[in-house]
Amino acid sequence: MRENPIGMFDSGIGGITIYDEIHKLLPNENIIYLADSKNSPYGGKSKEKIIEYSVKNTDFLLKKGCKIIIVACNTASTNAVKHLREHYNVPFIRVQPAIKPAALNSKTKTVGILATNGTLESELLFETSQKFARGVRVIKQIGEGLVSLIESGNIESIEMTNLLYKYMEPMLKENIDFLVLGCTHYPFLIPQLKKIVGDKVTIIDSGEAIARQTKVILEQENLINIYNNSIVREFYINKNPDVFQYFLNSYNENIKAVKLDF
Ligand code: DGL
Repeated sequence: MRENPIGMFDSGIGGITIYDEIHKLLPNENIIYLADSKNSPYGGKSKEKIIEYSVKNTDFLLKKGCKIIIVACNTASTNAVKHLREHYNVPFIRVQPAIKPAALNSKTKTVGILATNGTLESELLFETSQKFARGVRVIKQIGEGLVSLIESGNIESIEMTNLLYKYMEPMLKENIDFLVLGCTHYPFLIPQLKKIVGDKVTIIDSGEAIARQTKVILEQENLINIYNNSIVREFYINKNPDVFQYFLNSYNENIKAVKLDF
């Protein structure tokens, strides 16, 4: 079982930002990634639909023998992980917006969170804010349109810049000093966001924390791959793989995104 792969899925290519941290911290692990880009974005979909897609993605990864599943999508994590844990025996790692460190460290007692509607409206986000952000204002902003622009490779477009200004300006007026990225696609936007928010705002995402959490669970379950044989890295996508491949190439790894009918 130790040699079996870690499975990861996202509504698209955003989970690569989590993959990046996982493969740095756990270089011996075999990894299989599934991008359900055909159904992207999940953000505006109903909870039932998000659960349906997450079940399908999980079944795919389990058929490939995955020993643990990382739900590398905030929207699926906040809406579907409870259901997945109730119906499957493997461990699930969920991502969630890093409200806690932002709230703990905020000096202005005002933090911003940029996420999809599905994440912002979720019970999990409500509970996290209640628990960890007492006495701190949490300014929520739906990142409408951002995931679709990223999925279509339009990260540097004027349309993207305009949307980012539109979403950031109200938060800046409220004097946020932390910006929480509550969607795994958004770390791709950090260079542009930094230009808009400047030095006074710290941008945080959950990638590193998720990698650490995965390591802890693998250790607890005796599932760490102690062998160093040939490392498997498989990337599947159910839409045109070009943008996915472009991001994968930036890791200088010899990986090929495989197009699936799924
Ligand atoms: N990467 C997903 C997330 O973290 C994107 C959501 C979407 O597909 O709308 O929420």
